Amino acid sequence: MNASPASIAPQPEPSAAAARFLKRTHKLFIGGEWVDSKSSKRIPVMDPATGREISSVADANAADIERAVAAARQAFEKGPWPEMLPVQREALIWKLSDLIERNADELAELESLNNGKTKFIASVVDIAGTRDYFRYMAGWATKLEGSTFKTSIHGPPGAKFHTFTLREPVGVVGAIVPWNFPLAMASWKLGPALASGCTVVLKPAEQTPITALRFAELIQEAGFPPGVVNIVTGYGETAGAAIVNHPGVDKVAFTGSTEVGKIINKAASDTVKRVSLELGGKSPVVVLPDADLNAVVGGAANAIFFNSGQVCTAGSRLFAHKKVFDQVLEGLSSAAQNIRLGPGLDPKTEMGPLVSKEQQERVLGYIDSGRKDGAKVVAGGEAPSSPGYFVKPTVLANVRPDMRVVREEIFGPVVVAQRFEDLDEIAALANDTPYGLAASVWSRDVSAVHRLVPKIRAGTVWVNCHNFVDPAMPFGGFKQSGFGRESGRAVFEMYTELKSVCIAI
Ligand code: NAI
Ligand code: MG
Repeated sequence: MNASPASIAPQPEPSAAAARFLKRTHKLFIGGEWVDSKSSKRIPVMDPATGREISSVADANAADIERAVAAARQAFEKGPWPEMLPVQREALIWKLSDLIERNADELAELESLNNGKTKFIASVVDIAGTRDYFRYMAGWATKLEGSTFKTSIHGPPGAKFHTFTLREPVGVVGAIVPWNFPLAMASWKLGPALASGCTVVLKPAEQTPITALRFAELIQEAGFPPGVVNIVTGYGETAGAAIVNHPGVDKVAFTGSTEVGKIINKAASDTVKRVSLELGGKSPVVVLPDADLNAVVGGAANAIFFNSGQVCTAGSRLFAHKKVFDQVLEGLSSAAQNIRLGPGLDPKTEMGPLVSKEQQERVLGYIDSGRKDGAKVVAGGEAPSSPGYFVKPTVLANVRPDMRVVREEIFGPVVVAQRFEDLDEIAALANDTPYGLAASVWSRDVSAVHRLVPKIRAGTVWVNCHNFVDPAMPFGGFKQSGFGRESGRAVFEMYTELKSVCIAI
């Protein structure tokens, strides 16, 4: 039954282009130039499949952020960017997407080496997604508009007014992104920022800075004016906090943990910054008794094991109706046992390691706590022997709603399986979490689906699928999964200010 080999294969050699890029002495990209950081401290960059250091990046401090924000402010207020026609911004963003496409193979390889995900997934999800995100957003540069409206202002006799709104860029955006989809998450911030005429200081996660630095070269090559996009590598508590606290930053766009989201939201209130937060989740996968069980097993496995479970929308709580629970659990467990773990550049690999030693320890710690609380490990439950940061795909059953593994975001390949009896109780079970990012419902009964969907408190509800996103589809959280919507038309509410103009004529 278990097709997964006992040991982890070695990481194949990277291509010459990727190896060359990793060897470079990486600097900060500020004001259109590569500049040295103020301190000479470096952050090591690891290959999570081997635990070996493959590169290092600058450890930016508050003085570096000062410089990056000054460059972004200058570019926002003066120079060619504010004067540029929307159609010219559109052309630049489109050119950037073409450069991403032209360099897709190298970007996918770098993403795989730095994050651990397979090169295949990096290529079809991360890099293709990044390219398409910019393509979709390019079109919005020419389509943002205000409105005109009639007012009923009681002015002096004969007075008339012409009133309308202008939609203007919010200003300098501080984009702080996580390590699970490094370049794609950057594109979710940069796409709408650039389309609406903002300038940006981007801080990639300290674990995964590499593709952002390669991307900076594409920003240069595309010909964006200096200072429109600044990319600064550094830790969250230092560089990230300096962005959040800086009065020259008008808006912070954050994806990451709920814990840090709360810190950012508080800190940003000092300068009344606009904030959008896309935070954690504990998303339910709800299987109704009539569901197509073949689709459910593959779908539920993909919902939790995709990207090694390091997905904010990961389907980490499985609820299956008692009629089908045993079958679903068995199918899911055997799917888990058959997933081939390995390094990202090996084409045979189906699932890579977690991003860091810290994340591996966190996830293994959760599995242990589940065991201690009485959960039954039906599949996985341990790390294979390897210096890489792997965790076997894990299925836990016999769980209770109060267990930490059921309540807290694990952010790894660990699903908790629960049985439910009554269709009337399922919405309450699905909603029994502080989070509200996503959910999926599996059923062929149209009425049951339409009755259930409105009861689920989550920003995205998938039906008979899970984890699909699109640049046109608004994305964001209810409850402690954050606020603000990314993607689609909705995202521009967060990257623009609406100005009312009232003219006495
Ligand atoms: P994190 O929230 O600390 O890191 C995300 C980003 O925030 C990184 O760029 C980091 O440098 C930055 N950051 C950290 N502290 C900051 C601060 N005080 N001010 C400004 N920026 C700051 O996430 P971490 O520690 O890497 O992972 C911990 C847990 O967070 C994971 O186990 C997972 O549960 C959750 N997480 C959720 C993500 C999501 O997509 N919703 C992504 C990454 C982590
Ligand atoms: Mg953290």
